[in-house]
Amino acid sequence: MYISTLTLASLVIIPVLVKICCPYFWEDVLYLKDLFRILLTFVLRRKRRPLFLAVDRFIEQSVLCPNRTFIVFENKSYSYRDADRESNKIANALRAHSRLQSGETAALFMGNEPTFMFTWLALAKLGCPAAFLNQNIRSKSLLHCFNCCNAKVIIATAELEDVLKEIEPSLHDKGVCVFIMAKETNTTGFTSFTDKVESACDFPVSRSYRSQITFTSPAVYIYTSGTTGLPKAATISQTRLLAALAVLASNGVTAGDVIYLNLPLYHTAGFLIGFIGTIETGSSIVLRRKFSASQFWDDCRKYNVTVIQYIGEVLRYLCNTPKKENDKQHKVRLAIGNGLRAEIWREFLNRFGKIRVREFYASTEGNVGFVNYTSKIGAIGRVNIFHKALFPYALIKYDTEKDEPVRNSKGLCVEAAKGETGLLVSRITNIAPFVGYANNQQQTEKKKLRDVFKKGDLYFNSGDLLKIDQDNFIYFQDRVGDTFRWKGENVATTEVSDIVTMIDFVEEANVYGVQVPGHEGRIGMAAVTIAKGKELDCESMFGHIASYLPAYAQPRFIRVQNLVEVTGTFKQMKKKLVEEGFSPALITDPLFFLDDKERCYVPMTEDIYQAVVTGSIKL
Ligand SMILES: *[C@@H]1O[C@H](CO)[C@@H](O)[C@H](O)[C@H]1NC(C)=O
Ligand SMILES: *[C@@H]1O[C@H](CO)[C@@H](O)[C@H](O)[C@H]1NC(C)=O
Ligand SMILES: *[C@@H]1O[C@H](CO)[C@@H](O)[C@H](O)[C@H]1NC(C)=O
Repeated sequence: MYISTLTLASLVIIPVLVKICCPYFWEDVLYLKDLFRILLTFVLRRKRRPLFLAVDRFIEQSVLCPNRTFIVFENKSYSYRDADRESNKIANALRAHSRLQSGETAALFMGNEPTFMFTWLALAKLGCPAAFLNQNIRSKSLLHCFNCCNAKVIIATAELEDVLKEIEPSLHDKGVCVFIMAKETNTTGFTSFTDKVESACDFPVSRSYRSQITFTSPAVYIYTSGTTGLPKAATISQTRLLAALAVLASNGVTAGDVIYLNLPLYHTAGFLIGFIGTIETGSSIVLRRKFSASQFWDDCRKYNVTVIQYIGEVLRYLCNTPKKENDKQHKVRLAIGNGLRAEIWREFLNRFGKIRVREFYASTEGNVGFVNYTSKIGAIGRVNIFHKALFPYALIKYDTEKDEPVRNSKGLCVEAAKGETGLLVSRITNIAPFVGYANNQQQTEKKKLRDVFKKGDLYFNSGDLLKIDQDNFIYFQDRVGDTFRWKGENVATTEVSDIVTMIDFVEEANVYGVQVPGHEGRIGMAAVTIAKGKELDCESMFGHIASYLPAYAQPRFIRVQNLVEVTGTFKQMKKKLVEEGFSPALITDPLFFLDDKERCYVPMTEDIYQAVVTGSIKL
């Protein structure tokens, strides 16, 4: 009797105590359970022979559920079997019409469309890594990106043929074979490919093409604009791809789910999380060419979408659309992504109903990630000792003036205190490897940090400033170095200033991002000095910038300075410029605004300033 009372008491009291002392105990436990289940699946798959790759999971699904819808795109629908056959045809056409060998890279230059997915599947079946070129890049940057990955073949959508035509001589010199997804092409040196695919057989591709692959082999290259310079090709290994299979599944996505994918497939979020994640769960994807705030919910209703993917800006744009009566009528139950601000999250919920949000932190090339598995608004994740034991990471003190980690008298880094902002670094280990960038040893080295807590140790430098609070919640704070984010893209300031200074009348350009009320990230501003005896030509400035830079990287404002100030360090000066923003009332230097309707830079006025701040001019 005594014992059972005690047992009963403990059954009641212990959970209450747990709830009071460690309020997140059960969430932590559930998260750990998931973490171990994921690891177990991963480890068992890694043991299979012949090697089990991400593409094998797709082949498995196309046998298990051939008739299930895989992709819905512009009123056409493709089952898992359709996708399997279509990719076989592409693979067989590549075998017949190119010299592409297993292990050699092919570049993909297309936007969101089913062919992107089929072509990747085809390349994966042939054992060829794929490099995903961003469809917005042009000329010099495009050539640079293409050269990074040593591709022998480029497969492009017909809409981008003219863009490739511009760099055709360089491609020709390198002996690159260019396939255009069209039935015919008029560009000499290019080959039409759709006709060849249509006449190819859909016979399965022999597994022997993949026999040379190991887990460390590159699977895809995804371009990232890191802290400096031109975009870099982050190498995603086969192991990484295998691990990416788990992302949606571990967030409770199942076969019955319909995933709305409108983020670019050539980026990590769209490809690794949306597409690869779906292959694991056997769900369906509703694919859109690009995000459209006005179409978003109508699409969700029409296709019975249950899971949406976001980057911070996406949910903000949705909240900015005019309110409608049917805002809460949809089947969306889960939103997964990153960059969500607490205030937007609240507004989003109020307006669109009860949707579970899974906010995570990860970078394309990084080796540690966090997911918000508790109900803490604003946090990207939570310190969990087991997670930390598997993926040892730390926040270290960072000197933002000097732009480098603080080091003590022994030359080692110093861990940031709770509540203090620090740089996220994570130890490079076998299960948390850092593969680096293709053909870019110098940039790869720059992301490595040595002698962090012990002489000779090796960490990955994320370039992100985070904060951990007293309750162990992790918050994203800022990025370090010469980069800022706009519309979900990283903008490397040095890359932009290289392009701005190509103009003959520009002497020097200092590029940075300024904040605009009501927007995530920062928009580009270039502070320029004009060459002696020359003057600013607004029209040719616009022409040059529009043809060399993707829209998100184009400086929206130009500030003309007499001479680059000599006092203080470059860094301090930039900080001052950033703080001054873009208000013509505060800035005495001549200020210009990129007016996309006029297709020209125009003098910045108080009216334009007000229109930007109040949102009546859309940026
Ligand atoms: C190629 O040229 C012919 C004749 O000038 C034209 O009819 C056709 O539309 C062109 N095809 C493409 C893909 O540009
Ligand atoms: C969406 O669900 C409704 C009701 O369950 C069903 O009638 C409709 O056919 C579904 N639409 C699609 C595109 O699957
Ligand atoms: C984290 O997830 C919880 C529950 O899904 C949510 O209430 C909270 O707002 C999320 N935080 C962020 C920043 O998304």
